[in-house]
Amino acid sequence: MTKYSAKHFLTFLFFCNALCFIGQDQIDLLIEKMTVEQKVGQMTQINLGFLSSSVDQHDGKVKQIDNEKLKRAIENYHVGSILNTAGTAYSIEKWHRILTQIQDIALATPLEIPVLYGIDAIHGVTYTKGSTLFPHNIGLAATRNPIIANQIAAATAKETRASGLRWNFDPVLDVGRNPLWPRFCETFGEDPFLVSTLGTELIKGYEQDGLSEKTAVASCMKHFIGYSDPKSGKDRTEAYISDITLWQKHIPSFKAAIDAGASTVMINSSMINDVPVHGSYKLLTELLRNKLGFKGMIVTDWEDIIRLHSRHKIAATPREAVKIAIDAGIDMSMVPNSFSFCEHLIDLVKSGEVSEDRIDASVKRILVLKKDLGLFDEPYPEKDAVQNFGLQEYQSLALNSARESMVLLKNEGDVLPLPKNKRYLLLGPGANCLSALNGCWSYSWQGDKEDVYPNTSKTILDVFQERFGDEQVMCDVKRDYSDATNFNINFSDEEISNVDYVILFLGENAYAESPGNIDDLTLDQNQIDLAKRAIALDKKIILVLIQGRPRIINDFSENIDGIVNAFLPGSMGAQAIVDVLFGDFNPSGTLPFTYPAYSGDLLTYDHKNLSAMVRTAPNKKTYGGYHPAFKFGDGLSYSDFVISNFKLSADTINVDEKIQISFQLKNNSERDGTKNIDVFIKDHYASLAPDVRNLKYFTKVSLKAGAQKEVRIDLDKNDLFFFNSKGEKLLEEGSFSVFVEEQNATFYLNK
Ligand code: BGC
Repeated sequence: MTKYSAKHFLTFLFFCNALCFIGQDQIDLLIEKMTVEQKVGQMTQINLGFLSSSVDQHDGKVKQIDNEKLKRAIENYHVGSILNTAGTAYSIEKWHRILTQIQDIALATPLEIPVLYGIDAIHGVTYTKGSTLFPHNIGLAATRNPIIANQIAAATAKETRASGLRWNFDPVLDVGRNPLWPRFCETFGEDPFLVSTLGTELIKGYEQDGLSEKTAVASCMKHFIGYSDPKSGKDRTEAYISDITLWQKHIPSFKAAIDAGASTVMINSSMINDVPVHGSYKLLTELLRNKLGFKGMIVTDWEDIIRLHSRHKIAATPREAVKIAIDAGIDMSMVPNSFSFCEHLIDLVKSGEVSEDRIDASVKRILVLKKDLGLFDEPYPEKDAVQNFGLQEYQSLALNSARESMVLLKNEGDVLPLPKNKRYLLLGPGANCLSALNGCWSYSWQGDKEDVYPNTSKTILDVFQERFGDEQVMCDVKRDYSDATNFNINFSDEEISNVDYVILFLGENAYAESPGNIDDLTLDQNQIDLAKRAIALDKKIILVLIQGRPRIINDFSENIDGIVNAFLPGSMGAQAIVDVLFGDFNPSGTLPFTYPAYSGDLLTYDHKNLSAMVRTAPNKKTYGGYHPAFKFGDGLSYSDFVISNFKLSADTINVDEKIQISFQLKNNSERDGTKNIDVFIKDHYASLAPDVRNLKYFTKVSLKAGAQKEVRIDLDKNDLFFFNSKGEKLLEEGSFSVFVEEQNATFYLNK
């Protein structure tokens, strides 16, 4: 029998196409040659741990890859895609060996279709040793810097591709509407415009060079849709989101990413409005494909077809679950620890319950992606991509982005920046911990394995010691976040009497997904107790929060002089924090979410007018019910910025006219600085209850000490519409106000 190779076949067809103008697509012809088993195999994604010495459930324990299991998957089940590590991060050489081993087997099969490897390279290349880790999205959002977001994605794409991996399960485009949700740190915060703008830059950064290039990877927008606002705040639990809210808050970032050319999408493991998303034809086919126009490939999240049966209970059997998911519109199943998907889907096709045309459509999307990624031309790791790994410029990017992400929340009596010739007592578990600085997806899934971080990584204590020496720095925090002694003050009164400043490093240790579920947003009690003991020392006191979500600090924050929210700043985070504390970098970050003061008051800044009303007694009401600890957009600087002469170019505009906002921004200080500017619109009355305000534009302005500048911003009808429940854009006549901090002005839109 003639042995067809997909590569030879495609090359042959290419010449046929060129010479004979065969009207049929090359991939279609390849699909015609495939058996049902081969097609279903292409739609199957298996976990590397399952092909190793024992099953890996993301547990971080290193497993040996088993060649026999690998062969069985590829030869017998025709598996088209593999994901994940079987342990923690691998060296680049090990990745190349693994991928070569996989492709050797794939290319020895009759069709020679290469395997597509998918990986989570979140905030940098999670699973390659020596990669550069950047701030998590929540910190990136605080930078309000789309250029930096693009550069980070481009660097991540290069390091991923250098590792031999061409498909990245990133970015998270879920909107962080619920700060309890343990994946809040993976979001760009609570505002849909901010998420859309920065998320789109990540998509572009991954894909802009062209998927076949050695500097690009296929992106995967995730998790479509409504994952981020679970009622309970717990991961993978049900959300109830009206169609209006879905359109206004959750869909825009995915629509923007689709328009920016995202190649693939991953689906929300959970359910919205009582419907598991993996089983929803309405959401996956009618909405994602037909209405939003997504043409790329749809992959499930981890085990989510099986879970339609085992967790959601909408399928009485695992076989029925496969049918429901395929009918809904899934292209590829991240099975990932069994071959059950293959067995059931083959059976469903053979029994006629799923048509072969239906699976052909999915297989085509998968093969087109492989072709676009250049896998048919060069299935093996590209040796010359390795030169793009570990470049010095990534370190500078990591440092600059971490610096720009820092948010100065409080600076009583200008306690910050600190003088450099004093004595500092460092307290709190975050002072000496790489995991806390890097958070989830950092060389392991949970990111909590201190020993797998590169030995060049620095904790905050390392940086303090390096810059100031033992004479000026007192600290006995252990390299184990939860070590009980980290929550005590283990110095004598005499030792403490020499201290000028106490710096507390509190927040959270690394966690990912469900293990990060909490019942209370309030900071853990042992940290609150430590803060209170530190305050009782009666020194100038600074709090640095290293955390992925806003843990409530209301119990003690009024007694703290200076507060910096550092989020999860990544591999250069310690340096960035110390730079900000001592004024080597003038902070400019602004909150991408509302920092609540109380766990029972989790309003987002863009709440409805109803929530803005406060009734303190019968018949007694006031407006302004938004009383968080810190507002969306808050963030101080060591410079003093003043906005004046705020005006609009017109009182009234017609639908097709622009309106210009202008104001003077002055740096009224002796320090050069940068100011993040958020521009909000308030729609006074609308046929669907409007939000109190919505972010429509943001920018950064850098000004030398004493300098001033006129800032001009144009807005138009694209900033004034809202969505109804069908996703139609409504633009209504009426009054609108524009806000920049406390400044505002009103105009009228004529229709
Ligand atoms: C997560 C996804 C991730 C996948 C593969 C899942 O548990 O929800 O975001 O891409 O695992 O690792």
